[in-house]
Amino acid sequence: MNFLRPPTRQPRIDDEDSNTSPNTHFASVLDARLQRRSLLRGGVGGAATALFGSLALTACGGSDDAEAATNPPVTPTTPTEKLLGFTPVAKSRADSVVVPTGYTASVIYALGDPLTASTAAYKNDGTDTDYANRAGDHHDGMEWFGLSASGTPSSTAADRGLLAINHEATTDEKLSSFFLHADGGTSVLPRPAAEIDKETAIHGVSVVEVRKNTSGKWEYVQSSSLNFRLTQDTEIELSGPARGDGLMITKYSPTGTLTRGTLNNCGTGKTPWGTLLTGEENWAGYFTRPAGDDAARGNDKSVVSLKRYGRAEGAASRHGWETGGTEDKYQRWNNARSGTSNDGSDDYRNVANTMGYIVEVDAYDKSRKARKRTALGRFAHESAAFSKPVAGQPLAVYMGDDARNEYIYKWVSAAHWDAADASPANRMAAGDKYLDAGKLFVAKFASDGTGQWIELSITNPAIAGYAGYAFANQADVMVNARVAADAVGATKMDRPEWCATHPGTGEVYFTLTNNSNRRVEPSSSSQVAPDSANPRVYTDIKGTSSSQVGNPNGHILRLRDTTGAASTAFTWDVYLFGAESSASPSGINLSSLTADQDFSSPDGLAFAPSTGICWIQTDDGAYTDVTNCMMLAALPGQVGDGSKKTLSYSRTTGGALAVDTFVGKAPTADTLKRFLVGPVGCEITGIAETPDGKALFINIQHPGETTAMSNVADPSKYTSQWPANAGYGAGKRPRSATLVITKNDGGRIGT
Ligand code: FEO
Ligand code: CA
Ligand code: CA
Ligand code: CA
Repeated sequence: MNFLRPPTRQPRIDDEDSNTSPNTHFASVLDARLQRRSLLRGGVGGAATALFGSLALTACGGSDDAEAATNPPVTPTTPTEKLLGFTPVAKSRADSVVVPTGYTASVIYALGDPLTASTAAYKNDGTDTDYANRAGDHHDGMEWFGLSASGTPSSTAADRGLLAINHEATTDEKLSSFFLHADGGTSVLPRPAAEIDKETAIHGVSVVEVRKNTSGKWEYVQSSSLNFRLTQDTEIELSGPARGDGLMITKYSPTGTLTRGTLNNCGTGKTPWGTLLTGEENWAGYFTRPAGDDAARGNDKSVVSLKRYGRAEGAASRHGWETGGTEDKYQRWNNARSGTSNDGSDDYRNVANTMGYIVEVDAYDKSRKARKRTALGRFAHESAAFSKPVAGQPLAVYMGDDARNEYIYKWVSAAHWDAADASPANRMAAGDKYLDAGKLFVAKFASDGTGQWIELSITNPAIAGYAGYAFANQADVMVNARVAADAVGATKMDRPEWCATHPGTGEVYFTLTNNSNRRVEPSSSSQVAPDSANPRVYTDIKGTSSSQVGNPNGHILRLRDTTGAASTAFTWDVYLFGAESSASPSGINLSSLTADQDFSSPDGLAFAPSTGICWIQTDDGAYTDVTNCMMLAALPGQVGDGSKKTLSYSRTTGGALAVDTFVGKAPTADTLKRFLVGPVGCEITGIAETPDGKALFINIQHPGETTAMSNVADPSKYTSQWPANAGYGAGKRPRSATLVITKNDGGRIGT
């Protein structure tokens, strides 16, 4: 969701800024500048090939047995078509999905759609129930899992598969998910249990079968036995260093090994062994923590942790789910220390420690319990992007923490990649092998275009001896990864969203969506000065007067690990700066975007397995006076293909501030084009493709989000009626939904 909303709404919980750590980001950047090496002046790019024409993925060497192999890599075939051959679409504020001439976008799976044969059709009037057997709300990250004709896992099937889809959140105002309730629901506490039961069920994950029907049209399969949901009632295993640690003890699991629910699922990843990774993002805001709880805890270190993760005492919850009654399923949302035990086994004082992870799900087998991979750290997770698997080498997983001034992380597995694991007998056991033992690192960027991965280890004196928090063990470091990253002086970023690995170069791209707390002269502990990796501070005008300060349009950074997945050194540059095409090319539109390319607030990001096209999706509130959110297609180059640029800022004290940055080669009309614009009030998110590249699935999240709760009974006042106005489903209430995009001539998407 974007960061600009009507003032009547609940305080934003997806853009919290609890990082007030005094990291000296810019000072260290200046030091590094003196040691600048010539990496960006030709050294880096020498071996890189041109783009996809010569691209070959040789890693992994997986089996060719389509029925047995769950996930060997799809090798991009040399395109015979011109990539990005379509005519770009214009910016749009229409309440519809706009795609290029020659393409068709069709809705196939929307909020409330039934997932069993016996579930009633969705009426979309607020009277529907049984959401644990329906599509959830706010479709987000999404991955494809192919199915053979007989329904077994297939890496090559292109006409039948499972989509695993995150259901991040819900369109709400004053506590209530108002489109789910006939009268808009309650806006005061306590809230009725029946409303809460709907709202907890629409959060989580869907796994849903989709197929091409006999007339060649894509549809979802309501009666498929492979469909399932994860909701807030689903039992999930805790895995990795924090499993069984005292930090994880709750009334639900006195052994600290289990929890319920995966929450605020945003970005995704797909493992090389064929499972889903789903990231828990803004989970903190769902828990209430009453005034007086600091004292109830004896002001122990848990108070430091809770504040760092956005739960200061007195924090109200987003929906008031804790007020549904005395039953445990409601009381679990109360984060207070209310019991008398010493270990937390009689209350939910530790419950926040069981959310905020990368969660692994076997989309092919609902009988296997999902696992929260605590080794990959606890924060506001987005996507999880693997390094290109190389036999005999560790696997890296890149991740971002989406809040203002938070960090970029990398996991490096202790186990070395075995190509036989591309089709393991037990997929979750492969996850245990690669995602429970290893090292977690955080990124520190230098001003010379280099950077370092710093290990978050209890053996690091900066962590073990940190004055701000007394870490007990490695489990504590993982659960409080943000605090450990503070301790080692990681670089505060402009809200890291998704990351994705370029299939040719192996470089990793990160969307940094925007940052309203970047300032030339910070005036509070939550504001930070520009640095080389987050170099822009400017004022953008929205509409006629509303001004947006900081980095309102975001950027896309990329890095190259110097010596492969386990490397602790990298080089970086900024691939693209988001901007309005009319903005100043010297300080804002640094990538010289044209009207066919300009965008704001990049968020979703993925490289298509088939063509290698980089898809960029936006979740924007800054440029929405001109255009709805969009998706662009790109053919990026490589780190170091552009040039150094120095941005100069004047200050009232301290004189001028000069910030060196590295701007990737400006895109051309052939390497960056707007492909799609969505309906009113939505964000575009989720990217999954069939292996033949001929069907691209994306999600439209929260169309009509800007509708006032008081207008729930009057469809004429909805800011969007999509997808009903596109001919999909009953009622007029706007619904998050999955689209399939096909090319009318049967070709690959993006050509
Ligand atoms: Fe759910 Fe940071 O986007
Ligand atoms: Ca976002
Ligand atoms: Ca503007
Ligand atoms: Ca996102």
